[in-house]
Amino acid sequence: MIKKVTEKFAPTRREFIATMSALGVSGLGSNTLLAQTQMPQRPIPGKGESLPVIGLGSSKVVSQISSNGMDPLASVLRTLRDSGGSVVDTWPRNPENDAGLGQVLSAPDLRDSLFVTTKIDQVGKEAGIQQFRETQRLYRRDTIDLVQIFSLIDLDTQWENLKQWKAEGHARYIGVTVSEYRLYEQLEEFLGRETPDFVQMNYSVTERRAEERLLPLAEDMGLAVLLNRPFMNGAYFQRLQGQPLPDWTEEFDCESWAQFSLKYILSHPTITCVLTETSSPDHMAENARAPLGRMPNAEARERMKIFIDQI
Ligand SMILES: NC(=O)c1ccc[n+]([C@@H]2O[C@H](COP(=O)([O-])OP(=O)(O)OC[C@H]3O[C@@H](n4cnc5c(N)ncnc54)[C@H](OP(=O)(O)O)[C@@H]3O)[C@@H](O)[C@H]2O)c1
Repeated sequence: MIKKVTEKFAPTRREFIATMSALGVSGLGSNTLLAQTQMPQRPIPGKGESLPVIGLGSSKVVSQISSNGMDPLASVLRTLRDSGGSVVDTWPRNPENDAGLGQVLSAPDLRDSLFVTTKIDQVGKEAGIQQFRETQRLYRRDTIDLVQIFSLIDLDTQWENLKQWKAEGHARYIGVTVSEYRLYEQLEEFLGRETPDFVQMNYSVTERRAEERLLPLAEDMGLAVLLNRPFMNGAYFQRLQGQPLPDWTEEFDCESWAQFSLKYILSHPTITCVLTETSSPDHMAENARAPLGRMPNAEARERMKIFIDQI
């Protein structure tokens, strides 16, 4: 369910950060004050709407539809929904997989409970329009919650398309994505002249460069921030294979290496929602539990960075 927040409960980004800081979420205070028992939500700045902080990056499970069928996707989505989540990040791949995704998204119990995104990765105005029309048809949705330009491809041309779809009501929000440091400069340049609703970027305890300029810029501009690569597309787990979780991670109720990364990410208050990619309902449930309980404070965040850098 996409929760609307009333005016009274829709803080500005700065008010929100001040509140979160006071409660210890940004790491400035005690980590015991904000022990969550259900998945928290964070506001889309200035829009009167909030999103649950853990979402699904659906690339892997959708790309497996042609080989494994639709049940794994449906199970992962229901686990996300039952855990209090709603955000599903998608990317058109091929008509068979996208039609399967559309069928699952249209199940009566899921249709109105998810915040569905897509991306445009085409070059040329007409190719972008064609891709979006095909996505609307296959996803069986006239309006997509968030349409993003994938990795800044054909940025200026597609941005005009996105603005038009938003004006026409076919996109509720529009944004751009990056997942590599090499695109950061181009993204900053774009943000110097345009104001998307959302920006999606890579950030984690192992890939921290967004902390330097992009996250402060997103905060100053009042943008919603989606996060990708929380586990470096799986390389994070390979790096930590055989490593036991240190005892001190109990201080912030961390059960697993997956939650270690997610708790680090979510203790940065500028992040709106982290996209975790998985085809496993158990992993989805484990990821959805990451924002529950205590979160790392400033001291713990430093310790987490030092620990990871030594591995
Ligand atoms: N430029 C772009 O727009 C862009 C680029 C990259 C990614 N993205 C978005 O970001 C999403 C995330 O993708 P990513 O590349 O960043 O992947 P990721 O989430 O960093 O890593 C995914 C990998 O982690 C494993 N995993 C997930 N949860 C786990 C858990 N609790 N325990 C153990 N293993 C776990 C998954 O395997 P299992 O299936 O076994 O769980 C999968 O192999 C994508 O789906 C996409 O939506 C966008």
